Amino acid sequence: MSKLNQLLSLAELSPVALDALLNLALKVKQQPQNYTQALAGKSIALIFEKPSLRTRVSFDVGIYKLGGHSVYLDQQNGAMGKRETIADFGSNLACWTDAIVARVFSQNTLEQLANASQKPVINALSDMYHPCQALADLLALKERFGDLSKVHLAYVGDGNNVCHSLMLGAALSGMTMTVVTPPGFEPSAQVMAQAKHIAKQTGAQLLLSHQLAAAKGVNAIYTDTWLSMGDKADPAVIEHTFMPYQISSTVMHSLNIQYFMHCLPAHREHEVTSEVLDSTASLVLLQAENRMHAQNAVLISLFS
Ligand code: CP
Ligand code: NVA
Repeated sequence: MSKLNQLLSLAELSPVALDALLNLALKVKQQPQNYTQALAGKSIALIFEKPSLRTRVSFDVGIYKLGGHSVYLDQQNGAMGKRETIADFGSNLACWTDAIVARVFSQNTLEQLANASQKPVINALSDMYHPCQALADLLALKERFGDLSKVHLAYVGDGNNVCHSLMLGAALSGMTMTVVTPPGFEPSAQVMAQAKHIAKQTGAQLLLSHQLAAAKGVNAIYTDTWLSMGDKADPAVIEHTFMPYQISSTVMHSLNIQYFMHCLPAHREHEVTSEVLDSTASLVLLQAENRMHAQNAVLISLFS
């Protein structure tokens, strides 16, 4: 497969490259013994400006399983660029490490890190994207359905980072994706245009709605927190706006939906009821498990 240079957004991948990455992730999941030295001698910085459970642990453990070494940098200074510039931070990290995984407030921080370090940078979530999450989610759908081009996914909630990466992943995979948001919370027009441009090559369909009923009959329905990390909106206003979009058993049954998905952390009885989250229709732990396999495929292809 072709070598990756970085992963700031899924838009950097071609449809063929995404397919190859998902196939590699499946191989890594099924035969981990073949990859135990893939990162031998490599040290990878893990920078987090925001909290994390899944991303932090899956990268740390995943790098260990590939024979590499990770260096964790927590939010000791909050956003990067306060104690020294982001460029200085990146150029110094490059003296010792081989790649940088970063969870940041702004996508621009990732671009500055990549420019200053000249090392591969992996986006571990930004204001705009969460590509590692979408790779794990596509892997889960591939395991359940095989051919992604036959899958219809609905995303319900705030049209931000996770939604954007799912849209790009769906476009690259030839999927049908319906995005349902409250008015005013639609995905970025620029990401929609980018996804529609990719969709012309793959036959994917991207649809927008404000009505939950638009998700009728989809193979899987996906939701995320109503209030993302760092979002300063009034929680009471957000709850009032989003409650009509809660995924409950009534929604699952009346819209005839097979699977439920969530990037986690979940806010029980807000965006999803416990009944759905803990049901046999829920793929959330498969998605969480797949974070490591998908990311390991990314790391392997950076250094192959
Ligand atoms: N889904 C996800 O990125 O989880 P964390 O915020 O715990 O890393
Ligand atoms: N949209 C959420 C995703 C968390 C994994 C956030 O940005 O907080």
